[in-house]
Amino acid sequence: MGRSPERAEKAIAELGGEAVYAPGDVTQPDDVAKAVAVAGRMGRMGIVVNCAGLITAGGVLSRGGPLPLSEFERTVRVNLVGTFNVVRLAAEAMADKPPLCGDRGVVICTSSIAAQDGQRGQAAYAAAKAGIAGMTLPLARDLARHAIRVVTVAPGLFATPMIDDVPDAVRSELVAGTPHPGRLGRPSEFASLVEHIVSNPMLNGEVIRLDGAARLGFS
Ligand SMILES: NC(=O)c1ccc[n+]([C@@H]2O[C@H](COP(=O)([O-])OP(=O)(O)OC[C@H]3O[C@@H](n4cnc5c(N)ncnc54)[C@H](O)[C@@H]3O)[C@@H](O)[C@H]2O)c1
Repeated sequence: MGRSPERAEKAIAELGGEAVYAPGDVTQPDDVAKAVAVAGRMGRMGIVVNCAGLITAGGVLSRGGPLPLSEFERTVRVNLVGTFNVVRLAAEAMADKPPLCGDRGVVICTSSIAAQDGQRGQAAYAAAKAGIAGMTLPLARDLARHAIRVVTVAPGLFATPMIDDVPDAVRSELVAGTPHPGRLGRPSEFASLVEHIVSNPMLNGEVIRLDGAARLGFS
């Protein structure tokens, strides 16, 4: 599920056609319900990876005045409310299936290291990502009786289209703050952690940083 048909078509081609695209907005209950139904038609939906998100930047008080409340709300709505919307509807679809290897399903959410080390201008994004981290354990506890696990990944800086607009100087500074490996993370490394989470039944209710030991400083 996402909002870019071009990127979806490219991904489906890379997967040899073994995927479908359900366009929609994660904050809209009907859109997510439709996406869950589309996934269900492909077979058992046992894994959900919640990646939809947007990054925004804006200081609480700048020359233009205080950050518009609508900016803060939009960031929290897409990242946090959208994630919860997907979790609740996916869990409903998983809950009535028979368990497979002990689990009815695994839900993986995406936070960010900004949840713990948010920088200047990141109050909205950090709040949204901290919300995702904070709801991980209660969601896992709620869904334990349905044998559904919930785990959150908190990435550092990864080479995806999200950071295309980050100025080179800022990007270099962030990479310099990543002790080892001193580079951007690769999407395949995120995928590899997702694979491990799915296959390891003891991982539940946890937030895992994936960041090469990066800690965002004051800048
Ligand atoms: N790239 C990084 O450095 C980084 C670091 C930490 C966390 N993250 C998080 O990882 C996740 C994936 O981001 P990415 O880096 O792949 O960026 P991306 O911009 O490539 O992917 C984000 C996706 O979310 C989709 N999206 C945005 N708003 C949506 C909405 N309302 N409904 C449905 N889909 C929507 C976009 O269409 C896009 O496909 C995000 O949650 C992001 O916050 C990324």
